[in-house]
Amino acid sequence: MASIVVTGANGFIGVEIVRALAARGDRVAAFDVAVGPALRALAEGGGRVTIVPGEISEWHHVANLIRDHRPDAVVHCAAIVGVVASAQAPFATMRVNVGGALNVFEAMRLFGVTRVLNLSTEEIYGDFRAARIDESHPCFPSMPYGISKFAVEQIGRDYARDHGLDVVNLRTCWVYGPGLPRPRVPKILVDAAVEGRALHIPSGGDFRVDHVYVDDLVSGVLAALDKPEHRFDAYHIASGEAPSLAEIVDVVDDLVPGARITVGPGHYAFGDRVRVARKGALDIARAAAELGYRPRFDIRRGLAAYIDARRAAR
Ligand SMILES: NC(=O)c1ccc[n+]([C@@H]2O[C@H](COP(=O)([O-])OP(=O)(O)OC[C@H]3O[C@@H](n4cnc5c(N)ncnc54)[C@H](O)[C@@H]3O)[C@@H](O)[C@H]2O)c1
Repeated sequence: MASIVVTGANGFIGVEIVRALAARGDRVAAFDVAVGPALRALAEGGGRVTIVPGEISEWHHVANLIRDHRPDAVVHCAAIVGVVASAQAPFATMRVNVGGALNVFEAMRLFGVTRVLNLSTEEIYGDFRAARIDESHPCFPSMPYGISKFAVEQIGRDYARDHGLDVVNLRTCWVYGPGLPRPRVPKILVDAAVEGRALHIPSGGDFRVDHVYVDDLVSGVLAALDKPEHRFDAYHIASGEAPSLAEIVDVVDDLVPGARITVGPGHYAFGDRVRVARKGALDIARAAAELGYRPRFDIRRGLAAYIDARRAAR
């Protein structure tokens, strides 16, 4: 039984990591500025999950968290997430994402905790230079979100070199599944299909990006956590495939009889102010070889599971 701190534990991904850790018997200190019903239910069921409310950019909150719990490892998820949110709040993005991670690394150094899994993102690469990229792809992020997440990776490398921290960056892509909070694909497609609403997305049919089902991401996180030593400090935890948005729309239309979803051709857009980088598939060969990572959900299976959960929640 291990003792794990999860930051951002109330989030879409964080709460699933907490659930999986508790289910296998680990003790979890679940740190977040917000507490919702799913996390509260986990804390009430079985006594393995302790909620620690706190602000990641406040040094004393993070220092107390690490000092009081002295975990075997930290899974760092807390962040302001997504290019749209970061464009709307660039200062807060830097304060929370960069300042928050610095607090985590510094508190770990101070209290002798060495291992942290940092949830990172394909946004650190900027525009992909190929349809499928591996972890050695150059990093030229261009929005506050990607820039902040790349800064965290680099700061983690300093802490690894100078202070012996064991910082492992798990770079994932467009994670989806029940509870996805952001109004982007495939959530907007699934919501419209399940609610029987027609939806036309004006452009994006040709846009390809790696979509990873949340359960697969969680399995990759656990595999990285359980590996005693890492030869690499970054892994792609994704699906390894990049279906086009037109293909995804076809799958949703096929899975939900009567769905009326259509998409125009071309590149995807987050409104008219935020440019979406050129993307593709994340090569998962390193995670497969080093961690034994094997995603179980291709896009059809993942969407079917997501739609089932969405229907059940209605
Ligand atoms: N969802 C994706 O598609 C995706 C893709 C790549 C990487 N990631 C990374 O995974 C991690 C989790 O993402 P998510 O999708 O669960 O996002 P989310 O927004 O659902 O969760 C983030 C959590 O962090 C918490 N948080 C935000 N600011 C905080 C603060 N100042 N102090 C304490 N807690 C704070 C939020 O309350 C929230 O519960 C993030 O680090 C993100 O960059 C997510």
